[in-house]
Amino acid sequence: SPSSSSSPPDPSTYLSPSTFVSGQFLNKVVFCTGGAGTICSGQVRALVHLGANACIVGRNVEKTEKAAQEIATARPGAKVLGIGGVDVRSMQSLADAVERCVGVLGGIDIAIAGAAGNFLAPMTGLSANAFRSVIEIDVLGSYHMVKAVLPYLEASAKRHSSSSSSSGSKGWSEPARLIFVSATLHYTGVPLQTHVMAAKAAVDSLSNACALELGPRGITSNVIAPGGIAETEGLARLAREEDLAAAAKGIPMGRFGHVRDVADATVWLCGKAGAYINGTTVVVDGGAWRSRSGN
Ligand code: HXC
Repeated sequence: SPSSSSSPPDPSTYLSPSTFVSGQFLNKVVFCTGGAGTICSGQVRALVHLGANACIVGRNVEKTEKAAQEIATARPGAKVLGIGGVDVRSMQSLADAVERCVGVLGGIDIAIAGAAGNFLAPMTGLSANAFRSVIEIDVLGSYHMVKAVLPYLEASAKRHSSSSSSSGSKGWSEPARLIFVSATLHYTGVPLQTHVMAAKAAVDSLSNACALELGPRGITSNVIAPGGIAETEGLARLAREEDLAAAAKGIPMGRFGHVRDVADATVWLCGKAGAYINGTTVVVDGGAWRSRSGN
């Protein structure tokens, strides 16, 4: 059953509170793959704080259920379902999770494809299976999520369009949302990341295709591309602790990102203010990738 509990963390640690209206996601349901990870749980927590209920899925049962409980503390009465044992590489696994989410929470309005695989490996040390593993988690996993949630996103768009038709607007005033969590590595090229670069380039293209084909069905599709985010396992794995301070100085904004920076972008894209944003990438990296000139 969905978790809910008390003692929320201070909202200002995970969201810019002055920017966003409380309750703006009431009666909305978020579905998120990789939702127990640091970045995605931050995205979901912010949406839950502002009114949404949510379902997060992941491979690890304990980690996913614990993350769901923690996210539920963002708002009294929030329903957050954590479904473990879900491998996004399996269409059936994802379809079953989506059915369970809809059974418990009633639908899906916002879907975030966040499940990803990453490790540092030179081309010469990368087996075909290692390459395939990351492609399957990132690309096939994102595709599977789109396939599984699509009927529910369409239903959400229709529900909200009929209730807003009195405005005289002919378009989709409150579309359903697809968000893909990508990266910036493939904009320039980064050593030891062949597999991730290939995967994230494909994820970006998948989002662009969705924007064109699903826009007319009332669904926007966008990419969020975080740079290095301070609290993540990804950054810890990709850079040595003693190199981090020097690396931060090389970022135009002088620091690594925080989970909150990604959460803020997510809230903007998923809220009313983002209703006309479709087929784009919001890079949340403090300008970092533009400074990777190679000089
Ligand atoms: C070389 C490696 C390797 C490494 C795994 N492999 N780690 N090869 N160097 N460090 C190889 C294995 O030997 C195997 O190939 C193949 O990859 C599959 O490994 P398995 O462990 O069997 O696969 P699996 O259990 O499915 O795990 C998938 C995974 C793993 C991608 C390898 O790391 C994972 O589950 N990651 C999910 C969590 C994660 O990485 N999150 C971070 C996302 S951060 P062989 O040939 O031996 O069979 C992120 C940010 C990117 O994405 C941008 C950063 C700025």
